[in-house]
Amino acid sequence: MNHLVSPSVLTANFANLKQEIEMLNSSNADWMHVDVMDGMFVPNISFGFPVIRSIKQYAQKPLDVHLMIVDPDRYLEDFKDAGADGITVHLEACTHLNRTVQRIKELGCRAGVAINPHTPVTLLADIIADVDLILVMSVNPGFGGQKFIQNTYKKIREVKELSKEVNSDLFIEIDGGVDLSNAARLIQAGANVLVAGNAVFASPDPLEVISQLKKAGS
Ligand code: DX5
Ligand code: ZN
Repeated sequence: MNHLVSPSVLTANFANLKQEIEMLNSSNADWMHVDVMDGMFVPNISFGFPVIRSIKQYAQKPLDVHLMIVDPDRYLEDFKDAGADGITVHLEACTHLNRTVQRIKELGCRAGVAINPHTPVTLLADIIADVDLILVMSVNPGFGGQKFIQNTYKKIREVKELSKEVNSDLFIEIDGGVDLSNAARLIQAGANVLVAGNAVFASPDPLEVISQLKKAGS
């Protein structure tokens, strides 16, 4: 499958959110990545339901919602109602991950599980067959614009290997410090969804960066 690009709106200009979303609508992006932070699971707070609903009002592409919040079960339905097409929860934030994943699927959303840089891929062994997407964090979650962690390449290969027999359609998404310098190598390692915040929104030509990310590795 050709890889997807999911620009992270965390780095968008929130005073011009409508224009930013329309820019993404007109781009080669596949999804829009929406980062929700609660100030507990991560040391930062981003935004919640009213902002997601506003994004959804204009978005013509699926919303790829990444929950960096503790005990996400409390809000799954609210995120679905606010416009999420996919919901990714953190393995480290869920006590009953299997139940959480089933609930996301029952809501009709793509179900994803994210792992932090220090979390071994082996912990995914008993959930990988049940999910649509694994998100490998390539920075410590909480902020845009951080430096990419090199150990991610190894982890992508491990996820790919683990999913081979049991979930060959799996989305393997990479999030944090992704840019044109590492995109091709990430795809080579087995990634098929690239999230990019800073690389897109801090660029003078976001449309071009998105196009280049789409072409990376080909
Ligand atoms: C980090 C978020 C990312 C972030 C990526 O906690 O999950 O999605 O927005 O931003 P960049 O691409 O700037 O690292
Ligand atoms: Zn994210």
